[in-house]
Amino acid sequence: MPESPQSSASDHSSGDNVLDDILPRDSVAGPSSFDQGEGQQTEEKTVAPDHTGEQPALEIKNLHRFFGKLKAVDNVSFKAFPGQVMGFIGPNGAGKTTTMRILASLDLPTAGDAFVCGYSVVDDPEKARTKLGFMPDSFGKYNNMDVVEYLDFYARAYGFKGEQRRDAIERVLVFTELRKLAHKPINTLSKGMSQRLGLGRTLIHDPQVLILDEPAAGLDPRARVELRELIHLLAAEMNKTVLISSHILTELGEICDSAAIIEAGKILIHGTIKELRNFRPKKEGIQSTSETLLVSILAETESLEKWLLEQPFVSHVSPAVNQITFEFAGDKSQQADLLKRMIEKQFPILEFSGKSETLEDAFMSITEGIVQ
Ligand SMILES: Nc1ncnc2c1ncn2[C@@H]1O[C@H](COP(=O)(O)OP(=O)(O)OP(=O)(O)O)[C@@H](O)[C@H]1O
Ligand SMILES: [Mg+2]
Repeated sequence: MPESPQSSASDHSSGDNVLDDILPRDSVAGPSSFDQGEGQQTEEKTVAPDHTGEQPALEIKNLHRFFGKLKAVDNVSFKAFPGQVMGFIGPNGAGKTTTMRILASLDLPTAGDAFVCGYSVVDDPEKARTKLGFMPDSFGKYNNMDVVEYLDFYARAYGFKGEQRRDAIERVLVFTELRKLAHKPINTLSKGMSQRLGLGRTLIHDPQVLILDEPAAGLDPRARVELRELIHLLAAEMNKTVLISSHILTELGEICDSAAIIEAGKILIHGTIKELRNFRPKKEGIQSTSETLLVSILAETESLEKWLLEQPFVSHVSPAVNQITFEFAGDKSQQADLLKRMIEKQFPILEFSGKSETLEDAFMSITEGIVQ
């Protein structure tokens, strides 16, 4: 049986058994959406998009979860809205799974609360569960059970009966394109197919909010793209809210419209993917308006480095093999002028450009590699 939130607060387990998932005890969600097709963080770094007046589908308020002295989740707050895919990014041990398990009411917070479609996971977990589907980072493999039997088990657990149950299973088989594997034993499924089935299982009661813990881990590139498309459909066509954790940052950049970065239990920053990419942490001596530029050169970098250090608006000159990056605090015409002078000086320039920031760059500059 699933853990009861009341009993699990001091008895936290890893939750990778299939029965560890959410199973509401009363009736299931209303009409199927399959038929139809950010807030307080660390005070200094919030760049969340403005959803003023909109009701969040998921809201985490000052959430704490301590294991003895370990602050696994330390005052986490954020909101996610209908139709939004939000990434939950963080290094190993950052507190992602712990937060997600609390959202799924498999664990209780030490302090704080979270709301799913307005229902508190602490005070009203059974209602919250009807609105939420949780896909854990791993789930059990069962002998003597095929794909349909597995979905049927979950449909029964959610209280579906008769035709309603058949419809729910059929809907999931169609959506996940698992129909042709309906009678394949689940312990013989590939990783990609297992993940599809895992996602399908979380959709059986057509929840509004989906919590996916590293769903893309171990998938090959094609399976990742396919999973990404399914998640996109869930948000864009069915207006669901998806919170998805992953280490594959480039992929989260493509799949999510916003993300929160967590380290050592604390949210360091959250905002749109674009805002995160453009986020420039305050480094000593770097103006917030400055731009990182990159110059590739067909020669040793030494003399160019020396020359750059003497130029106005230039700082933080960082040479690598045949290229130099540096901070430039001037405007565009001053940038053009710098390039002109560089060429007049007869440096053999191959490339002169703004360095495009990746999510990895943002992640590396925002996190500090703290391990608790
Ligand atoms: N039941 C528990 N008892 C004690 N400590 C725990 C328990 N569950 C988690 N932790 C600790 O809480 C911290 C956060 O763990 P969590 O699993 O939430 O991290 P994570 O961000 O999901 O990491 P990963 O990327 O490796 O999955 C870790 O230091 C972990 O060891
Ligand atoms: Mg985890």
